[in-house]
Amino acid sequence: MLNRFQFTRLRPLLRPQAPPQQAPRSPENASARVVCIASGKGGTGKSIMASNLAVARSRMGERVLLVDFDAGLANAHLLLGLAPDFDLGHVMEGRVSARDALVEGPLGMKLLSGGVGRDALVNPTRRELDRLFKALRPMEDQFDLIIIDHGAGLGYSTVAHLAATSTLILVTNHEVTALSDGYALYKRAMMVNKSMRVGVVINRAPDERLAQAGWDRFRTASQRFLGSQPELIGWVPADPAVGHSVQQRIPVTLCDPESAAARAIQKVAEWTPIDHARSTSAFYDRARKSLR
Ligand SMILES: Nc1ncnc2c1ncn2[C@@H]1O[C@H](COP(=O)(O)OP(=O)(O)OP(=O)(O)O)[C@@H](O)[C@H]1O
Ligand SMILES: [Mg+2]
Repeated sequence: MLNRFQFTRLRPLLRPQAPPQQAPRSPENASARVVCIASGKGGTGKSIMASNLAVARSRMGERVLLVDFDAGLANAHLLLGLAPDFDLGHVMEGRVSARDALVEGPLGMKLLSGGVGRDALVNPTRRELDRLFKALRPMEDQFDLIIIDHGAGLGYSTVAHLAATSTLILVTNHEVTALSDGYALYKRAMMVNKSMRVGVVINRAPDERLAQAGWDRFRTASQRFLGSQPELIGWVPADPAVGHSVQQRIPVTLCDPESAAARAIQKVAEWTPIDHARSTSAFYDRARKSLR
């Protein structure tokens, strides 16, 4: 929770920039857009990206839900200064509805937490995952944008999401280990869902030259071995402002919007495919189908 000092300081920032401008809901936009955020290697900055994107898009006037699917090892609630009573585990067990498990964060964005140390969520069975996806389906009618933060790697539930999503943000670093694991994730994503739009963010880069060199490696390997390549959304510098924001439990785009990292993340939030991240059928219906 924000303390009184933080709240007073942030009050001007906590207002949406413009009144929400929702397009009237037609059959074409009846469901939320869905963007998955994933990486190969751990610790590349997915949760920092996801929590800040949720806040940034709320500020742009959208009703945003962040689902922390780093199930069992969730930390988005910490990054947002929240203390949820319920999480995906409770929803999966049928103890609460998805709606009742939501907690409100900065700028009105909602979080569905992933839970900490819950075994069932770490290795869900196909049946459990199906039940969870079914329980999450109503969320698509209540939000404009659903952002899903994944755990690192190619777990069963991540692959089910990849099979269903129209849009993926792949967060990597410029080091060869992160690039190699990121490439493996991209390859798997293309295997399960070739029509997906994939954007890469090179996070925590020491400078633009190294970010560009990392991206060149990624792009060249993808093109050479898979015959396709993702697009570069941008790069985010390694910035102490991010660490400070984690300590304060306030996303950096809120607590230090002029920092280099916050400005770069804001640009990621404006990536045009996020405005079109929708398919002809509901995301969670497709995710359930992918389990069969
Ligand atoms: N641009 C950045 N500059 C400086 N530090 C950063 C930056 N991005 C992320 N970090 C730091 O890296 C750490 C890991 O970030 P984060 O938790 O978002 O990674 P993750 O990919 O979600 O990890 P996991 O795979 O465990 O889910 C955070 O503690 C954060 O402070
Ligand atoms: Mg994370």
